[in-house]
Amino acid sequence: MDIFNKIDNYFGPLGQYMEHAHGYYMFPKLEGEISNRMIFQGKEKLVWSLNNYLGLGNHPDVRKADAEAAAKWGLAYPMGARMMSGQTRYHEELEEKLAAFVKKEAAYLLNYGYQGMVSIINTLVDRRDVIVYDSEAHACIIDGMRLHFGKRFVYPHNDMNNLEKELERATRIVEKTNGGILVITEGVYGMAGDLGKLREIIELKKKFNFRLLVDDAHGFGTMGKTGAGTGEHFGVQDDIDIYFATFAKAMAGIGGFVAGNKKMINFLMYNMRSQIYAKSLPMAMVIGAFKRLEMLQHEPQHKEKLWTIVNALQSGLKAKGFNLGKTESPVTPVFFQGGVPEATHVTKDLREKHNIFCSIVTYPVVPKDVIMLRLIPTAMHTLEDVEYTINAFSEIKKNLDNGVYSDGTIASMVVH
Ligand SMILES: Cc1ncc(COP(=O)(O)O)c(C=O)c1O
Repeated sequence: MDIFNKIDNYFGPLGQYMEHAHGYYMFPKLEGEISNRMIFQGKEKLVWSLNNYLGLGNHPDVRKADAEAAAKWGLAYPMGARMMSGQTRYHEELEEKLAAFVKKEAAYLLNYGYQGMVSIINTLVDRRDVIVYDSEAHACIIDGMRLHFGKRFVYPHNDMNNLEKELERATRIVEKTNGGILVITEGVYGMAGDLGKLREIIELKKKFNFRLLVDDAHGFGTMGKTGAGTGEHFGVQDDIDIYFATFAKAMAGIGGFVAGNKKMINFLMYNMRSQIYAKSLPMAMVIGAFKRLEMLQHEPQHKEKLWTIVNALQSGLKAKGFNLGKTESPVTPVFFQGGVPEATHVTKDLREKHNIFCSIVTYPVVPKDVIMLRLIPTAMHTLEDVEYTINAFSEIKKNLDNGVYSDGTIASMVVH
């Protein structure tokens, strides 16, 4: 069979909805400056779907630093991978600053968080080792494990009894193979906003021998007293063996980093295929990251404002009876009963009637009869935005409860 023929039969789990969704529910175009208000299909919307937590994405100081760095260095420099010809003292200095901030001996920059994580996992384990991971792990963790030739055991999301059982199984295996165990969790789970049970996981180190890798993509810059992440929030940063974060969220940039003890970081530098065989992070991104990190560390007002909005939004929604699941982070999921058809009507009403743009999550990410609207508060939002949104959500909920969206149809993407 021609592999292209397969496409005629099945367009993939998301692609199968392309005809109904493209440009509206999926691949929507948000235009204008990055902000709490952007243009969608020619009309201004209140946007709750950007991970621009601290509002740095379009901050004048950040824009200035980015523009000056691009003017000075261009976007090509340095050419080549770090190991061959792409090393600079700025890359090294940024690594030192990041390591000091997250209280680790050393750090290594990653050109994209996703491929960095895939490669970290691939580099650290071999066929003798066992990976034990949370069932809600991000795609980059799952894909990293796909490269693993050894065993991997999953535990149901944040289920510590089950984790303990899997660690017992893993221990029996590595005793035979002479391998080690890598446990992988996220700091903040980016879909539902709940936190990885870092304290409990680390407590298990007393009983089992394993190393802990934490993906803190959503926690870096938003959690902890200084913004150093979920490890700091729980007071367990020292017990995280491999700390990972991306620049794509609170740092509003591109790239990421991994941090830990010097020997392990040196090992990653000399073995991580995603960095050895790919171009170094461009200088403009590195210089831009310095500025963002400096603001994150020395301008606490951004995180304070973020949490003012988070607290107002979450307590306001809860007071009106909304179910926010178990979030303890800025990520604000709002759960409703309903299927995919209802979800499309909810989204359309929010966008067209209330001019609110937020992400919508349906089956298979959540159970079949659940709709999750996911709001990402940022330092750019205002308390008026919060109040307006809570009122709009109340109206949507009333319609859902009264069956207004239950005719079984998919809401048309055509806006009249
Ligand atoms: C938990 C988690 N890990 C990793 C990534 C990948 O980061 P990047 O966008 O830098 O590739 C993301 C971003 O979507 C994420 O949410």
